[in-house]
Amino acid sequence: MNTFSLRAIKAHLGTQLLGKKIHVFDELDSTNLEAYRMAREGGEEGEVVVADRQLRGKGRLDRPWLSPPGVNLYVSIILRPPIAVRYAPLITLMAAVATAKAAKGISGLQPRIKWPNDLLINGKKVAGLLNELKSKAGEVDFVILGIGINVNMTLEMIPEEMRPIVTSLREELGYDISRVEFLSTLLREVEGEYQAFLTGETERILRQWEELSQMVGKVVEMKSFHEVIRGRVKGIDSDGSLLLSAPDGSEKRVIAGDISQPEEFPDMKPGFGSEGK
Ligand code: BTN
Repeated sequence: MNTFSLRAIKAHLGTQLLGKKIHVFDELDSTNLEAYRMAREGGEEGEVVVADRQLRGKGRLDRPWLSPPGVNLYVSIILRPPIAVRYAPLITLMAAVATAKAAKGISGLQPRIKWPNDLLINGKKVAGLLNELKSKAGEVDFVILGIGINVNMTLEMIPEEMRPIVTSLREELGYDISRVEFLSTLLREVEGEYQAFLTGETERILRQWEELSQMVGKVVEMKSFHEVIRGRVKGIDSDGSLLLSAPDGSEKRVIAGDISQPEEFPDMKPGFGSEGK
């Protein structure tokens, strides 16, 4: 059953820009695909696509995103920031910060951001972001901010092999959360961070990201394309890349890849790559 009533969502909202138009679907291939189609046809900044269920939910690196009906949030937001493409990764960082704040606000639980844009609670993934961009002559034409949050999914709904690494807010809290309230909180948080981004408060967004990721100073292993890079996290750059200090003292900048959780490397020798931290 689809419990997303447009009236209920609007009643909770209180935003200026995001959600002026909200498109609610019982079922979609993917909210990102739908929002992309809408944006290409002239969809406006702030339009939101929500589905109760996705048949082809898209994750990062072409992975499927588990999207059962009735329990989670699958949301895509059209943004049209007047910026050059090179600044677009900051949108991903600000969205991760906003989603973490919304989750904390609604559940009291503090998710950690795992680079580039996963949210973890107790080391398990509770949300993921997939942002897709269309450019025009080096400028952003539009960005589709795709956010998937495991809200009320139960352990039984998660395939067995994924159970050690995936969770939901309900699994962590022991009770259900209103998806409508979460959606309103999310849109308010994204709007707040997006306005901050547009008015140039990028430093604050980066510092919040670093604080929420708690990765600075930790040793990580990164699979980036065909390379495995190990190093201590120095911070995040304004282009969204992760800065690592490698064992040989050189600085590595990673733009894409899969990172192993810092907790998996408790054994690193003290001093390794620790200059500046
Ligand atoms: C990831 O962690 O791999 C990113 C997952 C992003 C999933 C969301 S759900 C809403 C939106 N629509 C999609 O098809 N994907 C994103």
